[in-house]
Amino acid sequence: MKRYQEIHFESVDSTNLYIKHHYLELDDFTFVSSDYQSEGKGRYDRVWKSQKGENLLFSLLIKEKYLVAKGGYLSLVAAVSVSELLDKYGFKNITIKWPNDVYINDKKVCGILLEGQIPEYIVIGIGINVNQKDFIGEYHATPTSLILEGGKEVVLHQFKRDMFDILIKNISNIDLLHHQFKSYFHKHNHLDKKEIKFLYDGEYLIGTVKGIDDNFNLIVTSNNKEIKVSSGEISIL
Ligand code: BTN
Repeated sequence: MKRYQEIHFESVDSTNLYIKHHYLELDDFTFVSSDYQSEGKGRYDRVWKSQKGENLLFSLLIKEKYLVAKGGYLSLVAAVSVSELLDKYGFKNITIKWPNDVYINDKKVCGILLEGQIPEYIVIGIGINVNQKDFIGEYHATPTSLILEGGKEVVLHQFKRDMFDILIKNISNIDLLHHQFKSYFHKHNHLDKKEIKFLYDGEYLIGTVKGIDDNFNLIVTSNNKEIKVSSGEISIL
């Protein structure tokens, strides 16, 4: 298993941004976590809001060329890792909304933001709502947290340790575990058989989700044609 470094802040603009600004001097496999982010970033330039000290906010820097070349697949491995840990903690009805959001009981508990500069580095940023009870204001997807779903507080420092360990274990064995990740994803596919709207070749199409292929593209049938979707935002109809 890879060895890893850790840096923790009480407050930082964004753990992803910190790594992006410092990747040259940081070691491969450095975790950066923070109790609070003043500029927490979500996908599509959204804001990731999180109350201080209640949730897990971290980013992992990867510089090893072989892994960096895996690109977006890493965020899927991250989503599977988060889901596996939630399974271990006894949560039920865990699903992964392709490509990488984790849901419990149809509400979003975790978001993942993959950034970087291939082939130099990749940063996998993960936000998991752990002990936050109130979600005030606008959210793109209905949010939830482990305390709201499980009814009891989760020991954050232990949860963080378990999260780092499972992520490192899965990334260290990324090729060996490929089939395991795929079958796990199949079982927990939030979009399975759902009718979705998606962007393909610059136009919005409607189709039904069939599954994922070996490269973790989403397979959708639309107008009797099978389409492979490799990126973009999906909305459920
Ligand atoms: C999303 O669902 O839109 C992705 C959210 C990613 C949030 C995490 S929190 C830790 C890391 N630092 C950031 O600024 N964003 C990611």
